[in-house]
Amino acid sequence: MTKKQLDESVAYLKNKGFDDPEIGIVLGTGLGQLVNEIEDPIEAHYNQIPYFPLATVEFHTGKLIYGTIADKKVVVMQGRFHLYEGYDFLDVTYPVRVMNQLGIKKLFVSNAAGALNLNFRKGEIMLIEDHINLQGGSPLAFKNVAEFGDRFVDMMEPYDIGMRKKIEEIAKNEGIDIQKGVYVSVVGPQLETKAEYRMLKIMGADAVGMSTVPEVIVANHLKLPVMAVSVLTDECDPDNLQPINIQEIIEIAGKTEPKMVRLFKELIHQL
Ligand code: HPA
Repeated sequence: MTKKQLDESVAYLKNKGFDDPEIGIVLGTGLGQLVNEIEDPIEAHYNQIPYFPLATVEFHTGKLIYGTIADKKVVVMQGRFHLYEGYDFLDVTYPVRVMNQLGIKKLFVSNAAGALNLNFRKGEIMLIEDHINLQGGSPLAFKNVAEFGDRFVDMMEPYDIGMRKKIEEIAKNEGIDIQKGVYVSVVGPQLETKAEYRMLKIMGADAVGMSTVPEVIVANHLKLPVMAVSVLTDECDPDNLQPINIQEIIEIAGKTEPKMVRLFKELIHQL
């Protein structure tokens, strides 16, 4: 990754009309309904944007959508890049750097995740308060990182406290029960063994998934305030584990998503 590449990606999008978005939003697996709320959308497919990671066949639908939600200019990533698809840490975080350079002031991230905390239920939303990186690498471990920011980024409070408080208030007002907790990221794509679920719980994680942490590290690198939520799609009880059903995970993500859309829309409105 070079500054010149980033400049070209951003120039392409500005030329398409992506003018001064305030908020960037990353939509996770099975979470696409928010795009229906975007007014006057302008779309850019990932494979048209210079220097964007090349989309896999499986992933040809990915796009950036610019437009308005609740009177604010937003840029939404419909579909993200995952390490488990063979992308590296620079690939999966490149779109965050592009959105930052387009001018966003805040970043929202969402994902589908498994509930490790057995007090949590599938179909609930968990506000991420902190994370554990178990992906075996960092999006900041590259040679010219110093051209883009500090190498040793502070991670004392990676998730913006102000936005966390606001989301909690909004959830209360809207009558939506949300959980709060620690998200642990793994590479995947295989799901965890019973022994791994036990380990992740002991480590202090409440939810497990295969994304989000690299994007959040880069947001912190860019000093971009970030808020993230997990849509809990399955319950990871090692003593009562059910076979994984991806169809069900996507279905539960879809059923839970309207709650997430309400939270996001109201947060956009209030920012
Ligand atoms: N583990 C990892 N990633 C996931 C899970 C899980 O149980 N559920 C949804 N994404």
